[in-house]
Amino acid sequence: MTTLLHVDASVRAVKNDNPAHDSISKNIAKHFIDSFAKHQVIDEYFYRDVGVNPPPFITQDWIGAVFTPDDKKTAEQQQLLALSDTLIAEISAADIIVISSPMYNYGMPAQLKAWFDQVIRINQTFDFDLARGDFPLQPLLGGKTLVVITSTGEFGFEQGGIREHISHLVPHLRTLSKYLGVSTIHEIASEYQEFADVRHQLSLDNAYSQAAALGLQLSNQ
Ligand SMILES: Cc1cc2nc3c(=O)[nH]c(=O)nc-3n(C[C@H](O)[C@H](O)[C@H](O)COP(=O)(O)O)c2cc1C
Repeated sequence: MTTLLHVDASVRAVKNDNPAHDSISKNIAKHFIDSFAKHQVIDEYFYRDVGVNPPPFITQDWIGAVFTPDDKKTAEQQQLLALSDTLIAEISAADIIVISSPMYNYGMPAQLKAWFDQVIRINQTFDFDLARGDFPLQPLLGGKTLVVITSTGEFGFEQGGIREHISHLVPHLRTLSKYLGVSTIHEIASEYQEFADVRHQLSLDNAYSQAAALGLQLSNQ
């Protein structure tokens, strides 16, 4: 039984009239999922294109609803949290979570951050206890595998790379992943998109190969 949650974050579509505009991160993620599905049945598949259909930003009323005990929540507060409830249910059910994301301004798109703000929620995906001292937050979910697929215009964001010090996309995703219940992370990166040169083609080819290989690897587990 495999339940897969697939979250895409690019504002660009998978396919466009001009193929040069196709989202790189979404296409690599699709390649991973196609490879996985070739070798193993996906029993349940949830798909969220938060780039094209972003969840709303949270509000003061949303926070108020989150901190209201369940038996005291008004109908309006329940409604305010309905999407968050659904998104969290998708995460809870998933064995494998695939997040594909472009780098925008050295971090994740606001649309993907909006999704994280909706799902990292007290007493749902983490709990809070000051008895734990300086680290009061504790994740409530566990055992999931995360596949992170990124595309960047520049390059060198990896450990030891020339832009490691301004790399705020994958490190942020790593930090947040523990609140999704992730215990294993696989990362695939395509770089150099803005250079449109042979380095980009090599990076892209490599990312597609890694996606196919990872699909096969995870389907065997
Ligand atoms: C608004 C915006 C901001 C971007 N900021 C960065 C950046 O900070 N660093 C970078 O390397 N590339 C940046 N890029 C380039 C994208 O990361 C690159 O085009 C990537 O391929 C987009 O992913 P996609 O092909 O899946 O849409 C930016 C692109 C856009 C549209």
